[in-house]
Amino acid sequence: MRYKSIDKELFETNRKNLVKELKSNALVVVNSNDIMPTNSDGTMRFRQNSDLFYLAGVDQEETVLVLYPDFHDKKYREVLFLRETSELISVWEGHKLTKEEAREQTGIETVLWVSEFPKVFNMLMVMGDVEHVYLNTNDHYRAEVSVESRESRFVKWCLEKYPLHRYERLAPIMHRLRSIKSKYELDLLQQACDITEKAFRRVLKFVKPGVIEYEIEAEFAHEFLRNGSRGFAYEPIIASGANSCVLHYIENNKPCGDGDVLLLDVGAEYANYNADLTRTIPVNGKFTERQKQVYNAVLRVQREAFKLLKPGEKYFEYHKEIQKITESELIGLKLIDKKDVKNQDKDKPLFMKYFMHGTGHQLGLDVHDVGNMYHKMRLGQVWTVEPGIYIREEGFGIRIENNVVIEKNGVYDLMKNTPVEVEEIEEIMNS
Ligand code: GLY
Ligand code: MN
Ligand code: MN
Repeated sequence: MRYKSIDKELFETNRKNLVKELKSNALVVVNSNDIMPTNSDGTMRFRQNSDLFYLAGVDQEETVLVLYPDFHDKKYREVLFLRETSELISVWEGHKLTKEEAREQTGIETVLWVSEFPKVFNMLMVMGDVEHVYLNTNDHYRAEVSVESRESRFVKWCLEKYPLHRYERLAPIMHRLRSIKSKYELDLLQQACDITEKAFRRVLKFVKPGVIEYEIEAEFAHEFLRNGSRGFAYEPIIASGANSCVLHYIENNKPCGDGDVLLLDVGAEYANYNADLTRTIPVNGKFTERQKQVYNAVLRVQREAFKLLKPGEKYFEYHKEIQKITESELIGLKLIDKKDVKNQDKDKPLFMKYFMHGTGHQLGLDVHDVGNMYHKMRLGQVWTVEPGIYIREEGFGIRIENNVVIEKNGVYDLMKNTPVEVEEIEEIMNS
């Protein structure tokens, strides 16, 4: 692990909170992710299933967690199955968790090798008085997954082998629980944000006309890795000039031009938690008057957004408010006309040409974290606030994105120390 070990109390509390949400005589299974293949014998870097990490804190493939809080024998109320290590594995792949280490790390007493899973699972399924079997599915509203995960293979296998059990969806419960961040989680998110801030400050001093976008990407990677991050939380967007208007630009292969803006949408991962920062900066260290005008308009929208976020707020109503505020900024920037706005087609509002994405999303173990967007906002949720204005006809776009915690009387900005004012950005770039 690159990160400092996490207090197992986090995972113990998470399991306790899950158990409170279950029906009586319930059995829960959560699988790890697979190591995904690339080509020939190549593999992608392992990324743990977020629910499994949330409940057990194990960062290893071929792990299964089974919870059966009402089972007769206490020994099997929480069971963790692990890939059995061997001399050969330790020579080729290095250290894997021992049972003792897993107990220490997770707070789960019963740790077995995964080869024992079918037998033990069968015993629990037929010798308990199971009434509800909770299985996990990827129910993220934006997920478009074309490969079969270990979890979905398991669901198929389980339904075929035990067709008459009663199954329940685990996902809505996990979404509800994971969407509220505990103190431990907020600390981890803060660390991801702090590493991101460090890298951004480094980049402010590095950027000048002629540097290539991927050189800037390398600066971020360097600073992330040397601070205990495993790297980028998501594919970084390093977009100069006109590409700052391409919302998901990830080629990052153009030289940065004198007089252009550079949009950086980059976050560090830390201990499986993610930061999601966007800053837009002038390549040559000084915004033009027009760039500054648009930049400050976006910054004002962000500050208005901060004021609106509070427990009880509904995302889609808040987003509508932000669209309205952006609309009036666009009028101020003379990009749209007040009279035309009055007569606009309600289904095709004019602001959409310049602000066409959401105002934010929840953030945590996933970058676009789980949590129902229709539900009211709640204390302890973490949201990104990311307004933008993209002016294709002028060849530049501005987005500013911070990560905030919903508190009783407003928000706590996890990125409050990351430079955002025009003057501060220019000053650092020219120092
Ligand atoms: N970087 C992805 C996002 O801002 O949602
Ligand atoms: Mn982002
Ligand atoms: Mn975001």
